[in-house]
Amino acid sequence: MNKRQLQGIKVIVFCACLVPLAWAAIRAFGIGSTSLGPNPVQELLHSMGKTGLNMLLITLAVTPVRQLTGLNWLIRLRRMLGQFAFFYVAVHLLVYALLDLRLAWDTLAVDITQRPYITVGMLAIVALIPLSVTSTNAMQRRLGRKWKRLHQLIYPIAVLGVVHYYWQTRGEESAALTYTFAVAVMLGYRLVQAAELRAKRKRAAQGVPHQTLNPP
Ligand code: HEM
Repeated sequence: MNKRQLQGIKVIVFCACLVPLAWAAIRAFGIGSTSLGPNPVQELLHSMGKTGLNMLLITLAVTPVRQLTGLNWLIRLRRMLGQFAFFYVAVHLLVYALLDLRLAWDTLAVDITQRPYITVGMLAIVALIPLSVTSTNAMQRRLGRKWKRLHQLIYPIAVLGVVHYYWQTRGEESAALTYTFAVAVMLGYRLVQAAELRAKRKRAAQGVPHQTLNPP
């Protein structure tokens, strides 16, 4: 894949990521015969929350899909996908605070402290902030090895996102179970991979003294 093709794919993915926002705006303004239904704020809250969660899971899927298919250029899309995940979750929070609660900060504080699914959602979005802020090349260079460790937070964040969803639907929606299954598969894949890497390093470390004892 050359630079121009990659640029083209990036533009297409960028436009595709904007579709849920554009569709929500079209329905909010009632363009054509569309609408957000009888409870527009709730509908907006739900669609932005779902899109945020979908984007989080798509971001998580990039590495396994790249490794299994050999499509290495996929990694060049991960940052954009992650930023869109943060964007949609932030819009979801804004819809809740601005349109649902009408900036009733005391109610928001009560919700965060007393409604467990909101506490969990808040934890997830707060944890996403450092990932979003440090996603530039400059920050990656500056943080060095710490960057990778920091960005592994994406796994617990996805788990919190799914718990947030599962908790409010009490697992009654099949979609909540599907999300739980998807996160479990991706987490399992990474854990197996980490275990294999550790075993490989251990074998290599055991090989070093053996080689020094028997020089060629
Ligand atoms: C990474 C962070 C978050 C993710 C991925 C996320 C995702 C979701 C999803 C998928 C839904 C369900 C949508 C549906 O039923 O179709 C939802 C609902 C909701 N979320 Fe979040 N959310 C996050 C953070 C937050 C935060 C920080 C708040 C508020 C402080 C919040 C408040 C709500 C509320 C009030 C609902 C609707 C509950 C209901 O229908 O009764 N979420 N969220």
